[in-house]
Amino acid sequence: MDLLQRLGELRQQLTEHSHHYYVLDSPLISDGEYDRLFQELLQIEERHPEWVTADSPSQRVGGEALDKFEQVEHRIPMLSLENAFNDQDLYDFEDRLLRFLRNDSPPSYIAEPKLDGLAVELVYEDGVLVQGSTRGNGKVGEDITAQLRTVPSIPLRLFKSDLPRLEVRGEVFMSRSGFEQLNVQRAEAGEDIFANPRNAAAGSLRQLDPVVTASRPLKFFVYAVADPVLTGCSGQQEMFRFLAELGFPVNRHVSFCTDMKSAVRRFAELSDLRHELAYEIDGMVVKVNDFALQSRLGVKARAPRWAIACKFPAIQATTVIRQVDFQVGRTGAVTPVAILEPVDVGGVVVSRATLHNGDEIVRKDLRLGDTVLIQRAGDVIPEVVKAVTEKRDGSEIVIVFPEFCPVCSHPLQKIESEVVTRCVNPHCPAQRLRTLVHFCSKAGLDIEGLGKKSAEQLFDLKLISDLPDIFYLTTSDVQDLDGWGIKSAEKLIQGIAAAKNPPLSRFLAALGIRYVGEVTAALLERTFLSLEKVLQVSKKDLIEVEGLGEQAAGSIVDYLSDPGVQEMFARFDAGGLVPQVYVESEEKQILSDEVLLFTGSLQKLSRSEAKKLVKEHGGQIASGITRKLTCLVVGEKPGSKLKKAQEKGKKILTEDEFLRLLQ
Ligand code: IVH
Repeated sequence: MDLLQRLGELRQQLTEHSHHYYVLDSPLISDGEYDRLFQELLQIEERHPEWVTADSPSQRVGGEALDKFEQVEHRIPMLSLENAFNDQDLYDFEDRLLRFLRNDSPPSYIAEPKLDGLAVELVYEDGVLVQGSTRGNGKVGEDITAQLRTVPSIPLRLFKSDLPRLEVRGEVFMSRSGFEQLNVQRAEAGEDIFANPRNAAAGSLRQLDPVVTASRPLKFFVYAVADPVLTGCSGQQEMFRFLAELGFPVNRHVSFCTDMKSAVRRFAELSDLRHELAYEIDGMVVKVNDFALQSRLGVKARAPRWAIACKFPAIQATTVIRQVDFQVGRTGAVTPVAILEPVDVGGVVVSRATLHNGDEIVRKDLRLGDTVLIQRAGDVIPEVVKAVTEKRDGSEIVIVFPEFCPVCSHPLQKIESEVVTRCVNPHCPAQRLRTLVHFCSKAGLDIEGLGKKSAEQLFDLKLISDLPDIFYLTTSDVQDLDGWGIKSAEKLIQGIAAAKNPPLSRFLAALGIRYVGEVTAALLERTFLSLEKVLQVSKKDLIEVEGLGEQAAGSIVDYLSDPGVQEMFARFDAGGLVPQVYVESEEKQILSDEVLLFTGSLQKLSRSEAKKLVKEHGGQIASGITRKLTCLVVGEKPGSKLKKAQEKGKKILTEDEFLRLLQ
């Protein structure tokens, strides 16, 4: 078969399989088979870059990071919805409709889950995704095409393309499990966590670098077409079928309701169902099904007359704040936690709620002894909404944020631009304990037998006061302690011994240095190639590392400048902890300062061989003609990249020159 034909076939197969996987949730082939097809596609495209098209499955992530988002005007405004809060509001909505239509019989409706994410518009021209944008103010939004292309369930090309232009609208969101995993990763890297899945979805879409968006577990459901007449469908129900056939993900809990009574019944069903869904919904949207009726009803200033959002009541309850604990996290962040009179909130007994930070306490004017309204939004940590001030009797006491660390008494610090207050004493026992737990955990050295509870016990008993102590423990230190015996003690010591030669990057990430998660740690390993070098770096060295942010650089230098730290590393070493470096030896690193890109067809190397060579010689691969690019290697028929690189004054090499350089 000719190669071009095979390429077309692969694209079609991959698009179909990804549709089955991401949209229909029912894969037809294994991940391994999918990967093989994908690799084959990449190989053909690497040999023939001139065949790469924007709708190829290989082109989801691409392009450079933006400086800012451009504005996009919506051809037809993206409206919002009026709210209903109970059954009566829904019946009133129907009354208004009927009055407006004068003496018509009641219409049928479509009831849809109200997805709790972000509204976006996707524009397809001849079946190909050409633009994606946020709702913005309804008239003008932001161009987030590159970001939306990375969402796997958004089709890049439609299965049918009869329409020259199609503008669809829908919701981008994050599942609860995706959100939780993302937060675990962020907490491990010392980054702020997202408050809820909606904020996480919004934060992920608003990344100027689409590579970051691609790493976030975003999903999409379609719910409208800007100009439904174009689809030839008679109503919302038919339109959903039409959109599903084009390849769009349609929520499976959308239901047809012959009358408002059945929509009201559906609202009760969805109120129960919402807890079982993998993602958050905050209500139900009721839409008049018939498009002709929709158009007769028309729109008001900001919302259509033919649709309404019926919101679920937040799961709330009132209780009393008895006490406030100030907890010190691994990075020293002090979080106020309200200790509450236990109360049932939607079937769960709640006795603690986060107050987030000091500013929140002041903003909400919360006091000890206050009766407060608390809520559980989805499965997120319960939070205090507000004080019920009417219930105050004057005995309430203002909550004072401590000036000194509640654990080590070191003065706390708050940076003007941040909301977080921190204990900056690196020797603070609370931080040390959290750091120890992190160090031993799966995100750290993954020491078998040293889980959270054991780590806490050994820390409390001062058998482990700082991290190197772990490597000096003996069976006899542990075997007679509460809950231990000779067998478990021996197992622990074996577990510790087995963790003595971690990859350097894993070790660096385990230390719990702020802003140094897995990715930054890997960058440090690749750049400096030994622990000794890392321990000697200056801020200047770090800032020069491609991909390492200023915050991380500052944090690493601060960490290393602590006099105790160098001693700690000496004790690690003496205790037998010797990290391993898994990067090629130094003399081969001729490309370590280079970020390369290949263009045109190479004659002596395949693209993957070329990329492999770059990596083996310490270089990086650029994603396009970016600022970071240092050198463009050109094969035959190089195309527009060459011109762009020349304009930007980048170094240009031929394939032969590149190979000679490596010799
Ligand atoms: S229809 C005119 N359907 O709710 C039609 N909206 O205030 C407008 N939303 O920003 C939207 N699920 O992000 C519609 N099934 C659904 C929805 C939905 C969530 C959001 C949407 C919009 C807001 C409406």
